[in-house]
Order: sequence, then C-alpha cells, then structure tokens
Amino acid sequence: MDTEAKVVKTFSRFACQYDQYNQIQRLVASDLLSLLPLQCSFGMILDIGCGSGELYRQIEQKKIGFKTFYGLDLSDKMLSLHPNGENIIKLQRDFNQKDALCGVPLAHNTLILSSSALQWCQNLDALLKQLSLYSHTVFFAIFTSGTFKTLHQTAGICSPILSLEEVMQSIQKYYYGNFSLKHYQLTFDSVEAMFRYIKMSGVSGGKQQITIQQTKKVLKEYPLDYLEFEVIFFKGEGVCL
Ligand SMILES: C[S@@+](CC[C@H](N)C(=O)[O-])C[C@H]1O[C@@H](n2cnc3c(N)ncnc32)[C@H](O)[C@@H]1O
Repeated sequence: MDTEAKVVKTFSRFACQYDQYNQIQRLVASDLLSLLPLQCSFGMILDIGCGSGELYRQIEQKKIGFKTFYGLDLSDKMLSLHPNGENIIKLQRDFNQKDALCGVPLAHNTLILSSSALQWCQNLDALLKQLSLYSHTVFFAIFTSGTFKTLHQTAGICSPILSLEEVMQSIQKYYYGNFSLKHYQLTFDSVEAMFRYIKMSGVSGGKQQITIQQTKKVLKEYPLDYLEFEVIFFKGEGVCL
C-alpha cells in the first residue's frame, strides 16, 4: 500500500474516535484562526484536508463571515463527520492529484486554509503552485519533522514528514508573508498510552516505520513523559507569477 493510501486508511479507520484524540490539532486550528484579522468576512473559504470540520466549527464559534465553505478531504469517513449546511460544499478529493481543485470556483477573495493536513502532501510545491495562481490569501498550519523528535531519536529513525526548512522553502516560492513556529507538548501516564494516542489520532499517518525491536527500545528508554509537536504557521498572499 502506498503512503497516501495508508494515511487515508488510518484517518478513515479511526475517524469516529478522531474528535477524542485531536487535542493538539484542535489547539493548532485555534492558533491558526487567531492569525486572522478580527471581524473579518470572506466570499468563499476553502479548507484543505478539512477532516471532521475542526476549522469549520471554530469559524462558526468565532463568527467569521463567509458565503460558501468548501471542505476538501480524501477520507469519506472524515467528511461524513463534517457539519453539513446549505453553504457547505464537501469535496472528496486527493490533494496530491493534479485535478484536486478542478471545478472549485477559486476567486481573488477566497480564503484558503489548511490545518494539520499538508504534512501528508507528497508534492507540496505542486499544490502550492496551483493554489497561488489565483493570488489568494492563505493561512497554513503544517506539522514538521520536529514532531515526535525524541521518540524518533530514541527509536533511531528519521521523521517521515518534511522538515521546517523544506516546508518554508516551498511556501516561499509561491507566497510572501509571515512564518511563526510553535511547539506543543502532550503529557502521558505511560509510553504505552503515548503509543495508543499516536495510533488513534492518526498523527503518524499509519506509517509503520517502527519495528517491534524499535518499539521495545522506546518503551524502555523514552526519556520524557510527553510527546513533542512542531508546527509551522504561515499567513500570506500568493506571489503573482
Ligand atoms: C490531522 S487531520 C486534520 C483535520 C482537520 N484539518 C483538523 O484540523 O482537525 C488530517 C486530514 O488530512 C486528510 N488527508 C490526508 N491526506 C490527504 C490527501 N492526500 N488528500 C486530501 N486529504 C488528505 C485526512 O483524511 C485527514 O482528515
């Protein structure tokens, strides 16, 4: 099974429990929306990798105005948990495909958001290039390779997701704006509970990078009682090419 299929399978498999295990993604979504100007209103919002609708719910709570909300996600199970509404259009699409945005009426005043999803993008460059063609306002929160840093070090493996530098390089090609980096920690009673969280939250993307031997080593030697998360935030405008 390829990586993308594994990511979607994992999110679909644990979709029902996702809302119990998405503490960090919820915080990240809230931190992302706090970057938006106060009392703003938009014609259209596109949420890439919208999942079960964390951004949508928080947008409603914050009373951010919009006419139409497009939620794009590959997992039908996650999309089925997303709120419905007359002004909500759900798109079951793969953001790794060239035609992911086909038929989406992107316009100059479209607000493009993505929270905790683009770390699974196989060609971030290509997606950002497509998006930036319309010079939209974008707000991204993307997990980077410092996530689970000590766990990866203890197991002796490399992070499966892009580094901070790689994400920044891609974004800077197509957008100008501001970056900020945040680190989060989630505390656990045991390393077993930590592994359970990793499985249920889908943050590993279902990548079975870790062998039984490596798991045993982490169980024995992991020096922290928390997991580390590293997230890069970006707010900016498309560079007209
Ligand atoms: C960690 S969840 C984040 C969901 C939501 N944005 C939030 O903040 O809670 C990542 C989402 O990305 C979606 N995803 C992963 N790979 C994808 C792909 N290739 N195309 C579209 N969606 C994808 C998953 O199905 C999942 O719903």
